[in-house]
Amino acid sequence: MEKRVVAIEVHNLRDYATNRYKSVDDYPYGGGSGMVMMVEPIDRCIDALRSKRKVDEIIYLTPDGELLEQPMVNRLSMLENIILLCGHYKGVDERVRESLITREISIGDYVLSGGELPAMVFCDSIIRLLPGVLGDETSALSDSFQDGLLAPPVYTRPASYKGMNVPAILLSGNDKEIAHWRHEKSVERTEKRRPRLLDS
Ligand code: ADE
Repeated sequence: MEKRVVAIEVHNLRDYATNRYKSVDDYPYGGGSGMVMMVEPIDRCIDALRSKRKVDEIIYLTPDGELLEQPMVNRLSMLENIILLCGHYKGVDERVRESLITREISIGDYVLSGGELPAMVFCDSIIRLLPGVLGDETSALSDSFQDGLLAPPVYTRPASYKGMNVPAILLSGNDKEIAHWRHEKSVERTEKRRPRLLDS
């Protein structure tokens, strides 16, 4: 944010509440436990944001959304303005999901207390891809998942530590052989740890 590569604004839905208690949640129709986030404050907030700038996506963070994976992160990192809606309690009124949201994203098959941490995870995955964020501009390209493979092992000095040696190939100075070795290790590691990445 200091480098002005990205701007993040936080909006409090209570500022868009309409009753005198500033309620943003209410009991679920049909009964049951937990509270549901109301459609009106969310609609009013999104309307206000939309009137200020063109919004490319309105994303709801929810455990039943599409899994956040690198190809999606890459695509979304090209957008200009994204609204993130963090769910809480039992979730949001279904009409929000039907008519206001353009995309629903989950950061993994486990349930957190709200969408705030998922929103931060989402932001970090996007922001680190923006030019000027990572020190070495090329380093995101060699991340795990960027070519559908896990990243290969890396080493730094010393070349030998307590009898554990850095693979000789990495000390050889032969760039072509090193690239070949790294690719092989990536494939090996992917086969072992994320075999499903190799299916597609
Ligand atoms: N809200 C609660 N759990 C979540 C998850 N796993 N992903 C996205 N949003 C969530």
